[in-house]
Amino acid sequence: MLNKLMDLATSSVEKASFLDAPAAKLAALVAPVVQRPALRHVASGTPIGHPLHPLLVAFPIGAWSSALAFDALGDDDAASTLVALGVVTALPTMYTGLSDWSYTEGAEKRVGFLHATFNTLALSAYVASWVARRRGRRGLGVLLSLAGMAGVSGGGWLGGHLAYALGVGVDTTAFQHSESEWTDLADPAEVVAGELTGADLDGVPLVLTRLPEGIVAYADRCSHRGAPMHEGTIRDGCMICPWHDSAFDLRDGSVAEGPASRPQTTFEVRVADGRLQARRLDERSLRTNPVGR
Ligand code: FES
Repeated sequence: MLNKLMDLATSSVEKASFLDAPAAKLAALVAPVVQRPALRHVASGTPIGHPLHPLLVAFPIGAWSSALAFDALGDDDAASTLVALGVVTALPTMYTGLSDWSYTEGAEKRVGFLHATFNTLALSAYVASWVARRRGRRGLGVLLSLAGMAGVSGGGWLGGHLAYALGVGVDTTAFQHSESEWTDLADPAEVVAGELTGADLDGVPLVLTRLPEGIVAYADRCSHRGAPMHEGTIRDGCMICPWHDSAFDLRDGSVAEGPASRPQTTFEVRVADGRLQARRLDERSLRTNPVGR
């Protein structure tokens, strides 16, 4: 029963088109800051191989949860310090969250907008709680902390929906199955240097190009948000995503520049009987999670 109610609530948020206008305004406001080339690489978690936001979330939630415990024990000094620590650590957490959110669309954007709204209200409540505690109004400070925790909980629930139901932050090829046997792909003459060519590996779209060392093949679906990579460009030895400009090294598919944090899935290629053949390079097919095209 509770599960059904929760699903009803999240699907209502996903369809809440009235959120589009304020979300677009916020996106226009934050994009020039969070998408700055010098910062988005780190904010998106490119150096650590997955989004940074889920890692940073632990700091404010940990501080504020602990503050709750110290409030219950009557240690106002410790609670006050932890409330302040939560506020300080919430700022980079919010920054990385806005960075991730700025690359979403549609239902993800709406849910993310509400997630950010809950957390901003929570942050405001904790700032007010800290001020109240500093002024000696402990009772009010505790009440505001409880309000903040309610906001964080609502925001966390929506954040979970973003990650686990809508897959924001997940490598878009995580569940993509493909052939581990050599499979016919294309005429090798169709693959030329300096161009990205789309191909089909038994239902799985690939992108190909020719390097001095030979032809290389990667998943055509950008690991970040799923852009068709064959519509991108080649620059400085990297293929550039057509949607958000992530750069993937053409030699091995690694991320040279975010916002993507996961590399492009690599495929092995060979020429046999005058035809280009490909197969999956890694052993992802051995995973036990669901697979599909
Ligand atoms: S879809 Fe975002 S960088 Fe490719």
